Amino acid sequence: MSERFHDIVLTVNGEEVRERVDARKTLVDFLREDLSLTGSHVGCEHGVCGACTVRVDGVVVRGCLMLAVQCEGLRVETIEGVAESGEIADLEQAFITRNALQCGFCTPGMLIGAQELLARGGVPSRDMIREHLSGNYCRCTGYQAIVDAIESVAQMRARKAEA
Ligand code: FES
Ligand code: FES
Repeated sequence: MSERFHDIVLTVNGEEVRERVDARKTLVDFLREDLSLTGSHVGCEHGVCGACTVRVDGVVVRGCLMLAVQCEGLRVETIEGVAESGEIADLEQAFITRNALQCGFCTPGMLIGAQELLARGGVPSRDMIREHLSGNYCRCTGYQAIVDAIESVAQMRARKAEA
């Protein structure tokens, strides 16, 4: 019979983490319960709502669809790390200015997803923004303000890149 608990070493928001985890524990539960990184939320728990979105080795993933043990040796970035680095400071400000959040439950996932799109460069169309975030559910805003915020940041970054 295989072992239930495993010792893992990974990097979370730039810091090495060593923990013993249950083989069945999801990445998002590990982040929230073991590391107290509660910015990643748990909604549907089956990959549909996007509330648990994080980055693993630079790739955006659903934290509820990945097990913590699968992150052995990998680099995990949560909304806490992405926000503290200043990488999404403009997006955070635009979400506030444009009223793109109400309860805020979806916001960490929205921000990480938006940053993934904008990091490709250029100014995506509103349809592209909607398409990119179609896996992130928001029950409050009706999405319009979220698209407005992301579009405004894309335009601002493009102007800065040209300057
Ligand atoms: S909680 Fe992971 S996608 Fe909904
Ligand atoms: S702001 Fe409440 S779910 Fe999006």
